[in-house]
Amino acid sequence: MGNDIRVKADGAGARLTVKLSVTPKVGVESLKAKYGVTKYDLGLGYALPESLKALVPRNAPEYVESGNQYVERIMRALYFFKQCSLIGPSGTGKTHIVYLVSEISGLPLWEVNCGLQTSVYDLFGRFVGLGKENWIDGQIVSWCRYGGILYLDEANMMKQDVATRLNPLLDTRGHLVLTEKDNEIIPRHQNGYVIISMNPYSAEFAGTKPLNAAFRRRMSVWIDFDYLSVGSRLSQDEVELISKRAKIPLETGEKLVRVAAELRKLYKNGDLPYAPSVGDLVNWAVLVADGLSPSAAAEETLVSVTSDDPEVQNSVRRILQMILGTHDTAVKK
Ligand SMILES: Nc1ncnc2c1ncn2[C@@H]1O[C@H](COP(=O)(O)OP(=O)(O)OP(=O)(O)O)[C@@H](O)[C@H]1O
Ligand SMILES: [Mg+2]
Repeated sequence: MGNDIRVKADGAGARLTVKLSVTPKVGVESLKAKYGVTKYDLGLGYALPESLKALVPRNAPEYVESGNQYVERIMRALYFFKQCSLIGPSGTGKTHIVYLVSEISGLPLWEVNCGLQTSVYDLFGRFVGLGKENWIDGQIVSWCRYGGILYLDEANMMKQDVATRLNPLLDTRGHLVLTEKDNEIIPRHQNGYVIISMNPYSAEFAGTKPLNAAFRRRMSVWIDFDYLSVGSRLSQDEVELISKRAKIPLETGEKLVRVAAELRKLYKNGDLPYAPSVGDLVNWAVLVADGLSPSAAAEETLVSVTSDDPEVQNSVRRILQMILGTHDTAVKK
């Protein structure tokens, strides 16, 4: 890029040369127009450090909204409040949309899965080697310094020690105090946004927990995510997306989506442990496009992805039989 500038960031003790450059705009403007988000410029005034370029997602796959305007709702929330929360069952496209929003905004994405046993050291930083010579910023500290979107996935699974450190930072004009590094104070970058996501809390979702109250209070906007097609509600957009991605006829695509919609209904009632996402449907459809019958292809994809439990797998096979009307989907003894 032509507009490179070099700056020196002198953090207490740390010397770092960061090369700044202007975000590439190719394709981004058309995405902004497509999702109606031109007026929410989250990257306004942001100079992307050269070293962070690789963290800006590129070429996120097409995201189908079917009238839900999720992209606009998220970008509006970030524009006005700097942070928002996404709630929805597994596979409803929460992670996908966060990548898309980062791409559209030209901002680096700092992704943290709070369900994994990530330590305070990984997230905030640590000294390496002997003495206090080499400090390495953790992901959250880097986000705070350099800006971008901090994506806290499975936020309700966050460990208490991490949540306690994060709380003050989630006040929009918050800052971080690095107690482990001579109390260095790092103000939250003006282009520092936070998206948290989680599965809805309910008895059926094994392992889910209610969100920490201090965290809940700091989120201004909550966006509910749902599958495009559930039960008798079929989304033509989902049918078209799957048919186009896997190159199968629309009628076949519709059948697959009908199966998925039924499984999702059962999942939402707590009768299945998992329901297929758009991505799972595409996998199923790709095998169908290669010549397998829908039920044979489902054995390797849909049935197995739902559960290892033979009983649960049989429930999926029954739905397949019911909707596809096939006889080759043997319910296994
Ligand atoms: N509306 C959509 N348009 C296009 N693809 C979608 C859509 N929703 C989901 N997908 C696809 O379905 C798959 C699952 O989506 P994703 O991983 O974003 O779900 P999630 O909500 O983050 O799930 P989890 O709660 O398990 O993390 C991905 O392959 C994603 O690209
Ligand atoms: Mg996800």
